[in-house]
Amino acid sequence: MELVSLVRLEGVAKHVILPDDTRLDILRGIDLEIAAGDHVAIVGRSGSGKSTLLNLMGMLDAPSEGSVAFRGEPVRRMRKARLDRLRGRNVGFVFQQFNLLAGRSALENVMMPLGYARGREFWTRRTAATRMLERVGLGHRIESTPEQLSGGEQQRVAIARALVRRPALILADEPTGALDVETGASVMSLLDEIASEADAALVTITHDLNVAARARRHYRLDAGVLTAFALDLPANAAAADASGLAASVDDGTDPEPAAEAEPVEVAS
Ligand SMILES: Nc1ncnc2c1ncn2[C@@H]1O[C@H](COP(=O)(O)OP(=O)(O)OP(=O)(O)O)[C@@H](O)[C@H]1O
Ligand SMILES: [Mg+2]
Repeated sequence: MELVSLVRLEGVAKHVILPDDTRLDILRGIDLEIAAGDHVAIVGRSGSGKSTLLNLMGMLDAPSEGSVAFRGEPVRRMRKARLDRLRGRNVGFVFQQFNLLAGRSALENVMMPLGYARGREFWTRRTAATRMLERVGLGHRIESTPEQLSGGEQQRVAIARALVRRPALILADEPTGALDVETGASVMSLLDEIASEADAALVTITHDLNVAARARRHYRLDAGVLTAFALDLPANAAAADASGLAASVDDGTDPEPAAEAEPVEVAS
């Protein structure tokens, strides 16, 4: 299969100035390319910059240094209206905090991204949203508001909302964080399924080894520095968590030491 670059980060750094005037380096020297059909997992400690990186990939935020390109086009050169349209059409976010609209039903939340669509996609939005809610197991709760739903149910609404427009790039920030193992597994299958139906790329941030194991490429983020690593999955390590695993990659005993974070090996 030919390599279709979806999003490419080159020399990306992100820093902010804190209220006491010191500079906080959140991300440093990030080179990463995501292609259509790719599935990448990113692990890393709390505060290592994972959500910040996801926001940059999804063109929600701009880097302090370096460049982000979407389908070969530098994001910083795009006008805001076009950028918003491009993002709305192509990027499905599952936010860590879900970001559902309060007081609106699950159905309205999931229909929301289709409110910007045109033609058939717009006119069939209620059906499409209902089907997607059924696929995440919430067909019976479409009229419930986030306040009336459990954390895991809200997370599934957020996933349905991210997928309903069949985005080319799915960015999922701990998509199973609020789910039990079984529901998490079925939600991850759904993410995989929708991604492959549309040849979409899936980037998953996770602490769960079972979730990371579904990805084809693995990276860890450590204090803002991204490194590829080979996920060797011992059959009996299924219950271990991904950060523990990432640590074991560093102990020198791994036959395949952490590789440079570098050009993608793309699906064939
Ligand atoms: N706008 C901001 N202003 C100041 N600090 C920020 C800002 N955005 C992020 N940070 C800091 O950057 C670091 C990385 O944040 P980020 O949310 O990307 O971490 P994370 O890896 O997603 O963590 P978690 O696993 O807890 O979600 C944190 O220390 C955070 O406090
Ligand atoms: Mg985060």
